[in-house]
Amino acid sequence: MRILILGGSGTAGKAIVSSLATSENELVVYDLNPEKVIFPKDFHRGSIFFLDVRDTDSFDNLFFSAAPVFSEFDALIYNIAATTELLTLQDSSPEEMKFEKAVDFNPEIWNLMFDINVSPVFRFISKMYYYMDENQDLGKTTRLNKIIVTSSIYGRAIPDFNLYRGSQYISFPGYGASKAALEYLVRWAASFFGPLGLRINAISLGGVFNKHDDRFEQIYGTRVCLSRMARPTDIQGIYPFLLSSHADFITGQVIRVDGGYLP
Ligand SMILES: NC(=O)c1ccc[n+]([C@@H]2O[C@H](COP(=O)([O-])OP(=O)(O)OC[C@H]3O[C@@H](n4cnc5c(N)ncnc54)[C@H](O)[C@@H]3O)[C@@H](O)[C@H]2O)c1
Repeated sequence: MRILILGGSGTAGKAIVSSLATSENELVVYDLNPEKVIFPKDFHRGSIFFLDVRDTDSFDNLFFSAAPVFSEFDALIYNIAATTELLTLQDSSPEEMKFEKAVDFNPEIWNLMFDINVSPVFRFISKMYYYMDENQDLGKTTRLNKIIVTSSIYGRAIPDFNLYRGSQYISFPGYGASKAALEYLVRWAASFFGPLGLRINAISLGGVFNKHDDRFEQIYGTRVCLSRMARPTDIQGIYPFLLSSHADFITGQVIRVDGGYLP
């Protein structure tokens, strides 16, 4: 299978890339930080390119130019996100890291969450539809017939601010709002594209441990049936499964891989 992976350099992204780096697959990864994408040593069918998904012209040119690159893939995995971690830790003074900052309406952060976390997915499938239309490919099985987007517990859960008080993280509402929007888009697109043979699902991940401090990890564990944060290996089974023929009748779903995060 030839798989297009958008976003493969973060904690979850690295785990997903490595789970799909098998002899049956060829992986093409685009990321803002291509130098941080890693393939296993024995995997030689991967390539890595730079992409800033906020640059919509480049995005369109890359995948939908005269030779529409998108049609050369069997599957798309969309992992790119403006995460709260990314926004909290970048250029923030200790004062700015107060958890109450989350309540400030900052249009830049709010729009960034939507521009990065959800709009590119709609942009991609909309362009794909019109390409299929122009080429009278509608109703036929497209080669790109599987899409997975990565969502988060915050697309559904009520945030527990005990986690954030006194920590270095802020829980911006735009993150969860954009992930909830992404989950709705999955249901919408599954219905719209189902008759054309395309399956689209979301995988909603719980927090993956990445050097979080003990206090955060401990409080987080109290919210989870399995009492802990995810390890990278915990999220690696579901992506290959959803891309396999075993999942041929699964579409429009949000599959939660979060250890049983309490709502
Ligand atoms: N790590 C977790 O604990 C966790 C938990 C729940 C959900 N998720 C989701 O998993 C997915 C991957 O997250 P991650 O853990 O790898 O974390 P991350 O925050 O490091 O990943 C974000 C990814 O998006 C890329 N990216 C960010 N802005 C970009 C831009 N403008 N253009 C192109 N690429 C850009 C980053 O380079 C990175 O690969 C995200 O959708 C995230 O919301 C992660």
